[in-house]
Amino acid sequence: MDQIRVRGGQALKGTIRISGAKNAALPLMTVGLLTDQPVVLRNVPALADIESMTNLLRQHGVRITAIEGEAGTWTLDGSDIVSTLAPYDLVRKMRASVLVLGPLLTRFGEATVSMPGGCAIGNRPVDLHLKGLEALGAQIEIESGYVHARAPKGGLTGGRVTFPMISVGATENLLTAAALASGETELVNAAREPEIVDLANLLISMGAEIEGAGSDTIRIQGKPTLGAADHRVLPDRIETGTYAMAVGAAGGEVLLEGAEAGLLDAAFDVLRRAGMTVTQEATGIRVSRPCDRLVGVDAMTEPYPGFPTDLQAQLMAMLTVADGASMITETIFENRFMHVPELARMGANITVHHSSALVRGVAGLTGAPVMATDLRASVSLVLAALAAKGETTVNRVYHLDRGYAGLVEKLTACGADIARLQGQRAAAEE
Ligand code: EPZ
Repeated sequence: MDQIRVRGGQALKGTIRISGAKNAALPLMTVGLLTDQPVVLRNVPALADIESMTNLLRQHGVRITAIEGEAGTWTLDGSDIVSTLAPYDLVRKMRASVLVLGPLLTRFGEATVSMPGGCAIGNRPVDLHLKGLEALGAQIEIESGYVHARAPKGGLTGGRVTFPMISVGATENLLTAAALASGETELVNAAREPEIVDLANLLISMGAEIEGAGSDTIRIQGKPTLGAADHRVLPDRIETGTYAMAVGAAGGEVLLEGAEAGLLDAAFDVLRRAGMTVTQEATGIRVSRPCDRLVGVDAMTEPYPGFPTDLQAQLMAMLTVADGASMITETIFENRFMHVPELARMGANITVHHSSALVRGVAGLTGAPVMATDLRASVSLVLAALAAKGETTVNRVYHLDRGYAGLVEKLTACGADIARLQGQRAAAEE
């Protein structure tokens, strides 16, 4: 199993190119199931999760081909779908697989999708997805671990869906399902994430009639079919925030090239309060840590536009060596503090009470062997390692491959002493 080895203490200086957003590309790719016309997606990040979604869509019959000479540009052709079954062995690898449910059901009138099962950060049910689809007329049964969904003979019909709690994935499944349902659908208490807006923009470019994406109420007038499209995936705001916090942890100054302002206002507000400078430039966002030590700040994760839960672990890593205390509260997932014991191994002083963690800044961290447990926790360990004195090895880096394209290369180019050790070599170096 590969490891990542970091020798801390180097400030970061240079430029990091921000990739396309994983959490936009995944729902955008499911649109390949919605139409028999070609859909071109550009700026698709090279990630393990994208590979999983590609494998899943291909077994449904979507032809997915790379466009020569244009890294990250793919054509999806859903003109010959051969199966509406999403099997367990593929779905269990990545929960976002459940996003094929809406497109399959609305275009073909049926879908059999494995229940995704929980994951490290929480139980993560899909009840809101299913209740929403039932409001559009779907019959849904759960049997032997699969969701069996059927639309009425005439297909799904528009309806009013009020989400009891905000769900990004449920909003996305309902958006795609409503696009081909007959009549108007209204999504109330919808998620407002930029990735939802990106998905709505793609659907609109294919002829869908959608208004209100990005607000908490979205109205969709269903269409009989959708046409071709050519769409560029928006930049990854979580990758942007992650590297900004890497600068917060290690010091220095980095231009986050291609990063889009306005996608991370809440997170950048926290970074500025901690003492960082964040400035928008023509080609991206420049972040720097102009002082030796940041100051502790409080943060609470919330649905967009609040502070993103996907940056909670990274913020915590950065604040372990700030002056003073920080209270970080996680309100979205029930088990998203698994990075705490690993950070503690490096000398961090963190006390967890239920959904809040009190981080008391320490003079410094020391490198240690640590274990990655989930995608964002694993990158928080890399950030802590950049700040630590000595050598850190992060195990189970396959978690990182799910969400960070070229992490080692991007940080190396900014002066970090970081390397990926192949499995057997890592063992030998142990
Ligand atoms: C998306 O997951 C993201 N994944 C997550 O990013 C992100 O953390 C999350 O949104 C919140 O922003 C993708 O976009 C692929 P939710 P999703 O439905 O859609 C509960 C990462 O690190 N819930 O908004 O699964 C759920 O358990 C990943 O890139 C229900 O109870 O999140 C959670 O507590 C991690 N029933 C809360 O709602 C449901 O039917 C928010 O979940 C659905 C969700």
